Amino acid sequence: MKKVIYPGTFDPVTYGHVDIVKRAVDLFASVVVTVAVNPTKQQLFTTEERVNMLNDSLIGYNTVTVDSFEGLLVDHAKEVGATGIIRGLRQVSDFEFEFQMALMNRKLADDIATIFLMPHEKYTYLNSTIIRNLASLKADVSDFVPPIVQEALKKKFG
Ligand code: COA
Repeated sequence: MKKVIYPGTFDPVTYGHVDIVKRAVDLFASVVVTVAVNPTKQQLFTTEERVNMLNDSLIGYNTVTVDSFEGLLVDHAKEVGATGIIRGLRQVSDFEFEFQMALMNRKLADDIATIFLMPHEKYTYLNSTIIRNLASLKADVSDFVPPIVQEALKKKFG
């Protein structure tokens, strides 16, 4: 498999996401990290801000590109020529939703496989909501997010 796509909301990107990207880079020739434009999920950062933060956090990864998509993930995967979807599995509780999504995506596009990667254990309890909550309470999030995200969170929460 040459090209894979790693979708997510990335509101904002954390070191847990970066860890997954690094693992995908080691396995595949090219990785497209794609920000989901999801009108039903309330977001702190705009799509453009999320794309910019990902680009900055992934500087030096020459086989990675960042973009965004609206609509069906499998359609976007086909547009960019990806034959695999990368998803991170942090804990057992992720499994049910991920299993359902992987099977639905396979039903929609049988030629696109979902590949699950596990982040380092130290990131298994991370998600973007916790980061937003911590930052809104002025907690130090430097262990969890890249510097550009720390700065952006400071600006949002004053
Ligand atoms: N490290 C840290 N946090 C992680 C993580 C990791 N490695 N992997 C996931 N997370 C967190 C995310 O930050 C996010 O946190 P939040 O809910 O607090 O914001 C949460 O886990 C969910 O992850 P995410 O990848 O953003 O999933 P999602 O459920 O928001 O989005 C899409 C999933 C966008 C891929 C999916 O909805 C999609 O494909 N949508 C397009 C429509 C479509 O094709 N539908 C048919 C498919 S069934």
